[in-house]
Amino acid sequence: MSNDRRIQELYDRKAEARAGGGAERIARQHEKGKMTARERLELLLDKGSFREMDVFVTHTSTDFGLEEQKVLGDGVVTGYGAIRGRLVYVYAQDFTVFGGSVSWAHAMKICKLMDTAMKNGAPIIGLNDSGGARIQEGVHSLAGYAEIFYRNVMASGVVPQISVIMGPCAGGAVYSPAITDFVIMVKDTSQMFVTGPDVVKTVTQEEVTFEELGGAFVHASKSGVAHFAAENEEDALFLVQNLLEYVPNNNMDDPPARPSQDDPLRQAAELNTIIPDSPTRPYDMKTVIKHIVDDGQFLEVHQHWAMNILVGFAHLGGRSVGIVAQQPAVLAGVLDVEASQKAARFVRFCDSFNIPLVVLEDVPGFMPGVTQEHGGIIRHGAKLLYAFSEATVPKVTVIVRKAYGGAYCVMNPRHLGADMVLAWPSAEIAVMGPEGAVNVIFRRELAEAADPAARRAELVEDYRRRFANPYVAASAGFIDNVIEPSETRPRLINVLEMLQNKRGALPPKKHGNIPL
Ligand code: HXC
Repeated sequence: MSNDRRIQELYDRKAEARAGGGAERIARQHEKGKMTARERLELLLDKGSFREMDVFVTHTSTDFGLEEQKVLGDGVVTGYGAIRGRLVYVYAQDFTVFGGSVSWAHAMKICKLMDTAMKNGAPIIGLNDSGGARIQEGVHSLAGYAEIFYRNVMASGVVPQISVIMGPCAGGAVYSPAITDFVIMVKDTSQMFVTGPDVVKTVTQEEVTFEELGGAFVHASKSGVAHFAAENEEDALFLVQNLLEYVPNNNMDDPPARPSQDDPLRQAAELNTIIPDSPTRPYDMKTVIKHIVDDGQFLEVHQHWAMNILVGFAHLGGRSVGIVAQQPAVLAGVLDVEASQKAARFVRFCDSFNIPLVVLEDVPGFMPGVTQEHGGIIRHGAKLLYAFSEATVPKVTVIVRKAYGGAYCVMNPRHLGADMVLAWPSAEIAVMGPEGAVNVIFRRELAEAADPAARRAELVEDYRRRFANPYVAASAGFIDNVIEPSETRPRLINVLEMLQNKRGALPPKKHGNIPL
C-alpha cells in the first residue's frame, strides 16, 4: 500500500470515530436538547487544544451479536487539553454509541486517562452521559466500573476531580461521580439514581418521575449529591472552567493567583451597619462576603442545599480562599445535620488542595430537636469539628456576631488550630444565649422573685453586658483582635499574606477515623 493510501486510511478511520453512533442517533441527541460528546469537549476546552487518546479502541465482546457491532472509541472520547491555558484530562461519554454504556474497553480508556492524570498532576473532568453498565458484557462491565471507582478513590486528594452529569447516570454508575470532588448536573436533561422509577414502584409502591427521583433540582437541594445545578449544558461547562480558577492542578501546587484591580486596602463602610441592633434579627451573610472579597465575586457551592451555612470560593488579594459562613437569614444560621456535612466536606476539599480557609461566624448553636438527635447530629457535627481540626492550611475566623455553645468550639476557634481569630465589636461568645443562661443559673432566684419578669430582664441585661461581647474571649487570648467591620477585607488579606508559608503537620498515622 502506498503511503498516500495509508494516510488516507488513517483519516478515514478518524472520521469514522468522529461519526460516533451515526447521524440519526446524533440527531436524536440534539432533539433531546443535548450536545454530542465532541461538541461538549469543543466548548469546554481552549480552542484547538484537545488531543484524543485511544481513538481506535473497540470492545472485544462476542455475545449478543456484539462482534458485528464495533464503533471506534467504544462510546467514550478521552484525552487531554487546556482550560484557560491549564492542562486537564477529560473523558466524555458518547450516548450515540451503545447509549454511552460502559464496557470493559470503555472503562479501560477512562482508567488509562485517570492514571495519566495522576502521574502528571492535572484535574480529571468526566462528562457523564451513559445508560450504565453495558448489559451485553455482564461482569466485564461491572469489573470496569470497579476499576474506575478504585482510581477515583486513589486520585481523591491528589488531583481535583469534577463530574458533569449530562444525561442518565444510573445504578452503581453513580458512585464514580459521588466520590469526585464536585458534581454538576444539568437541569431537565440529567438524572442520577441507584434504582429507577420502575424498580422504586415495584419495591416501595411509590410513583415518581425520573426528574422527581433524581433530577438536578432534587440532588442540588434535597440530597446534596449535586454541588451545582446548571441551567443548561453550556452553563455546566462554564461552571467547570470557573471552578478551576480557584483550585490548583494537584495537591503539591498552590491555587493559581488571580490578580485583581480591587484594592487590597479597600474598606467597606457598609459592614459597620450591617449587623441589626436586635441580636435576633437576621441579615444576609452573602452581602457581607461580597463586600469583603475581590470584586464581590463568590462562587457558591451547594447553593440550594443546607442553606443555613454558606460554602464557596473567592479570591482575597488575588489568593484563592474557601469561605465557610453561617447564613443568619436561614434558620438563624443554626448548625444542623446537613449544614455540618456540607461544611465538613468543603473544608476537607480546601485542605486537600492548599486553599486557605476563611470562616465568618454567626452561629446560635446546634439545632435542637428529636429529628436532629435521631438523625445523628452528634456524629455529623463531629465531622465538622474533625475537619477543621485536621486541616493544616491557613485557617482564619472572623466572629461576626454569635458564637454560642458547642458551635463556638466547632467553628474553627483557636483551640482547633485556627491561626488567627478576629471579632467584630458585635461578637457575642458564651455557653448559651442570655435568656437560656439566666433561666438555668438563676432558676431558684427567679422562682422566688416578687416580679420574676422584671428580675429576669435585669439578669439578662447584666449577663449580656458581661458575656455578650468579644472582650472576655479577647482577654483570654482566644480572640487575637477586635476589628472595625469596615476593615475586614484589608485585615484578612494581611493575615493570609502573613500565613502564606505556614507549615502544618499532623502526627504520624495511617489515617484518622473521621466519624462518617
Ligand atoms: C447496552 C444500552 C444500554 C446499556 C442503553 N443502551 N443503555 N446498551 N447497555 N446499559 C443502548 C440502547 O440499546 C440504544 O441502542 C441506545 O443505547 C439508546 O438507548 P435508548 O433506550 O434508545 O435511549 P433513551 O430512550 O434515551 O433511554 C436511555 C436510558 C435507557 C434511560 C438510559 O436506555 C435505559 O434504561 N437503559 C438501561 C439502563 C440500565 O438499566 N443500565 C444498567 C444499570 S445498572 P440503539 O442501538 O437502539 O441506539 C448499572 C450497574 C453499574 O449500570 C454497576 C457499577 C457497579
